[in-house]
Amino acid sequence: MKVVAFNGSPRVKGNTHQALEMVLEELNKEGIETELIDICKEELKPCRACGACGRNKDSRCIMNDDRLNEYIQKVKEADGILIGSPVYFGSMTAQTKALIDRLGYVGMANGYLFKRKVGAALAINRRAGALCTFDEINKLFLISQMIVPGSSYWNVGNGTRPGDITSDEEGERTFRTLGQNMAWLLKKLS
Ligand SMILES: Cc1cc2nc3c(=O)[nH]c(=O)nc-3n(C[C@H](O)[C@H](O)[C@H](O)COP(=O)(O)O)c2cc1C
Repeated sequence: MKVVAFNGSPRVKGNTHQALEMVLEELNKEGIETELIDICKEELKPCRACGACGRNKDSRCIMNDDRLNEYIQKVKEADGILIGSPVYFGSMTAQTKALIDRLGYVGMANGYLFKRKVGAALAINRRAGALCTFDEINKLFLISQMIVPGSSYWNVGNGTRPGDITSDEEGERTFRTLGQNMAWLLKKLS
C-alpha cells in the first residue's frame, strides 16, 4: 500500500512539509509506503479550461511542460493521497490550487480515476484561514468519490516561521492521529 503526499508550500522545508511528515511517519509505522512531493520545486501551471482532458479521455492533461501528468500517474497507482497547503490570504497557495484543478478535472473526466481512494487534507496558518483551506482541499476528495478519514480535530496547525509547527502540540497530535486513522482505513479497504 502506498500514500503520496503533496506539499503546496514554496518553503520546501517549512511547516507544511513538516506536518505532512508527521502524518507519513504514522503511516510508515503501519507498514505503508509513502512519498512526499514538494510541488513548488518546479513550476506547476494552472488549468486553462481547454477541455482536452474531457475530449481525449487518455487520463492526461494536454499541458505536457510540467510534472502534472507524472503526479496523476502517481495518484492512480497509490491507495491514498495527502495534500497540505499553507494559508495565503485566507486560502490555499496558488500551486496547490493548480494541482487540485488539473488533477481533479482529469480524474473526473476519465471516469473518476481516483474513486474510493483515501484522501486527506491539512492546512497550516499563522493565525486564520486554515479551516477554510482544509475545507477547500477536501472538496477535491469529496467530488472525486474519494473517502476521507478524520482525526481528533480538523487537520490544521499553527506556525509562522519554518519549524514553528513542532511547537504546536495539539496540531502534531491531530496530524499523527490522522496518519493512524488513514492507515486503519487503508487496511480496511484493501
Ligand atoms: C503571501 C502569504 C500570505 C499569507 N496569508 C496568511 C493568512 O491569510 N493567514 C494566516 O494565518 N497566515 C498567512 N500567512 C502565513 C503562512 O500561512 C505561515 O507562515 C505558514 O506557516 C507557512 O507555511 P510553510 O512554512 O509551510 O510555508 C501568509 C504567508 C504568506 C507568504
